[in-house]
Amino acid sequence: MDLLRKWLMMVVLIFFNGIGGSSDGGPLVLDYYKETCPLLEELVQRTVEIAVLRDPRMAASLLRLHFHDCFVMGCDASVLLDSSGSIISEKQAGPNINSLRGFEVVDHIKYILEEACPSTVSCADILALAARDAVVSRGGPRWNVYLGRRDSIKASFDGANKFVPAPNSSLETLIANFQEQGLDTGDLVTLSGSHTMEKAKCLSFRQRIYEINSEEQSYHYKRGTTFQRSLQSICPKSGRDSALAPLDSMTPARFDNHYFLNIIQGQGLLISDNVLVSQDLEGEIREHVWAYANNQELFFASFGNSMIKMGNINILTGEQGEIRKNCRFVNS
Ligand code: HEM
Ligand SMILES: *[C@@H]1O[C@H](CO)[C@@H](O)[C@H](O)[C@H]1NC(C)=O
Repeated sequence: MDLLRKWLMMVVLIFFNGIGGSSDGGPLVLDYYKETCPLLEELVQRTVEIAVLRDPRMAASLLRLHFHDCFVMGCDASVLLDSSGSIISEKQAGPNINSLRGFEVVDHIKYILEEACPSTVSCADILALAARDAVVSRGGPRWNVYLGRRDSIKASFDGANKFVPAPNSSLETLIANFQEQGLDTGDLVTLSGSHTMEKAKCLSFRQRIYEINSEEQSYHYKRGTTFQRSLQSICPKSGRDSALAPLDSMTPARFDNHYFLNIIQGQGLLISDNVLVSQDLEGEIREHVWAYANNQELFFASFGNSMIKMGNINILTGEQGEIRKNCRFVNS
């Protein structure tokens, strides 16, 4: 990167921090495991790279896992717990069941880390690191992952149903949902850009292709129709609930800014993608969307900042929680 670009990036970062709130690590720190697990970042990165080589979709799945963790009681690895004793797994909740992936990869990372530095690295920190490395592996931005999270000793099945946003949410609902997590509208737009990677199942986008409301209809008049028809061939009115379609039909395997080009054209796969443009009456979000569509570097810089912010939601630190030995179960 030449100096001018570096300088421009700095200006952009300062500007966006001003809008979106600063994004430092809060109580977390960069070198938390420097003494206790010096090879941590290298080990996680390698394991993620291998997993993604084997299964390219895994990059998206690992990113989503961190998101679904953070939105339910905070980034505390509650999403990883299996049902056992009094714990009802979040994996069974509506947004997660038959949908979340990547648990075996997390287990594998944990196994390697328990060999290298036993009972040291939290499962919550593994999720944060894996999400970053997953994005990098698909050509996306790299950001600093602040560390020191601890793992919860409980899960919240009800929380998973309540706090993970539904794909048919209105813009108002999405904004409120993110606000509840301390994330603003800018973060909503930026993080929704994650839907530049991989897939959703028919069940998640059926309503979007068969029940177009009048608002959508008038905004996307004509433009939508061929797109809709091709999706209808994948996803019939009933049945084939698990049939998959790409969230970004242009470059589903890459982390880039094409998501924003898609939603400008009314070609987001989910209702929650399209409402960012169609229900934004003030046009503030639309401006954001256009800026990202025109400038991938800007999107990348903001994405890292918003991921750091998301990674700070309600974290457990110090003596809170525990360092799980097995990410699927609390320590006995
Ligand atoms: C804004 C509200 C959001 C809604 C309503 C939403 C909803 C969804 C839905 C329904 C799917 C498809 C799941 C399936 O059909 O199995 C999906 C996939 C995905 N989401 Fe989101 N999401 C949102 C925000 C986010 C955020 C903030 C991230 C990451 C930071 C994210 C990352 C992903 C990824 C990477 C996939 C593809 C996963 C895969 O192929 O395995 N989403 N999302
Ligand atoms: C969203 O989908 C759920 C489940 O399919 C349905 O019960 C609900 O009525 C839908 N909400 C809206 C606003 O369309």
